[in-house]
Amino acid sequence: MELSHPLNRKEFGSTENLGNVLSESEAMELLEDWVKNDKLLFHMRQVGHLMKRFAELKEYEDEVQHIWYLAGLLHDADWDQWPDDHCRKIIEELESRKIDPRIIKAIASHGPRYFGVEPESEMDKMLYAFDEISGFVHAYSLMRPQGYEGMEIKGVKKRLKDKSFAAQVSRDDITDASERAEISVEELIQFVIENQLRS
Ligand SMILES: [Fe+2]
Ligand SMILES: [Fe+2]
Repeated sequence: MELSHPLNRKEFGSTENLGNVLSESEAMELLEDWVKNDKLLFHMRQVGHLMKRFAELKEYEDEVQHIWYLAGLLHDADWDQWPDDHCRKIIEELESRKIDPRIIKAIASHGPRYFGVEPESEMDKMLYAFDEISGFVHAYSLMRPQGYEGMEIKGVKKRLKDKSFAAQVSRDDITDASERAEISVEELIQFVIENQLRS
């Protein structure tokens, strides 16, 4: 299988940097510099929010919740300006800033079919899963007059079967991500509906 954005690497960041994170404002500053596209910014904020909520519901400590949040918030940071170098550019930036390797690894594995890096940790797998499903559910919310309000799982599933709707979202990736996370597509959809980001 040919990878569109091969990273050709297995190690990301250094264990010496465990616990080194960007603050919320440092992360937002980076996004302000790099991302001019509001839709992309919303997508990353949504995924960051879902990651944080998931870690919060698992009762992980605050530091871990923040790590989950940052992985979601920054995962597509380079997509706007350097699509051909996605996600190499953000990985290198976080490595040069000596950021926690868990964040960098999660970002590196958010698209195994594109980057050739397998999601391994729970955080890796959830980033992959939320990335795929949240974009789809959000696209569906935009075509509904009431947005997320009253949205039901079955409505989303119907759209998933309609291949012409949000055609750029890979159904294979959604299925693959759900299997790897061992959380059904239905549960993932429910989670996104319940924990939508109010912009
Ligand atoms: Fe991406
Ligand atoms: Fe994404």
